[in-house]
Amino acid sequence: MEKIRLQKAIADAGLASRRKAEEWITEGKITVNGIPAVIGQKVDPETDKIALNGEPVVISPKKNIYIMLYKPEGCVCTVQDDLGRQTVMEYVQDIHTRIFPVGRLDYNTEGLLLLTNDGDFANRITHPKNKIEKTYMAHVRGGAFTKEELNTLKQGVMLEDGRTQPAKVRVDTVYNNGTTLIEIVITEGRNRQVRRMLEAVGHPVLALKRTKIGFLQLGNLPYGKWRHLNPQEIKKLKEN
Ligand code: URA
Repeated sequence: MEKIRLQKAIADAGLASRRKAEEWITEGKITVNGIPAVIGQKVDPETDKIALNGEPVVISPKKNIYIMLYKPEGCVCTVQDDLGRQTVMEYVQDIHTRIFPVGRLDYNTEGLLLLTNDGDFANRITHPKNKIEKTYMAHVRGGAFTKEELNTLKQGVMLEDGRTQPAKVRVDTVYNNGTTLIEIVITEGRNRQVRRMLEAVGHPVLALKRTKIGFLQLGNLPYGKWRHLNPQEIKKLKEN
């Protein structure tokens, strides 16, 4: 088999993103034929013996898997949690390939989460330069938003880590208990971004749900359930 860069081989094996693989290589966690690997090293996945933390990594010509999960609240978007919290992987147990979540939703956020073993695909969906829209419905404290608050959300909110990219917002429902349901569409994926944006304009989030990634909708997938993406959906997401 043709030699490919080690970080790509690891990503292709569905173990991690290329970026994560580079971190592992830098941290000395990866060996090739028993020798600590270096960034940029090329390997033949069929003949070279690659190991992560001493455990052999099987890199066979792989079948890519793409699934969507209706992530429930109360679980983390990692393959394993150091704090022993429930992870999203517990909801997709009957997939017999190593897959990982594409980006993250907070512990208390529910909604559309993609999982795959395709590192390139995961990178494409999450990288801010690709500006793939992520749509959220946020139930927030406070009645009707002012024009200024909506404009700030649309034009960019100044957060600790810089101003957010322009967002789309639409007030869905103003409830008579002094709370509001608002739709917000962002193209970045900073940590707790939607919560921080809404908090910054005086509307703390009570509940948050992601309903769409690009054109892909959660639809009527039941809470906590998953399904495979169909070939058209996969193609369209890759073209996005
Ligand atoms: N923004 C948030 O604040 N939380 C999420 O889980 C996703 C986006």
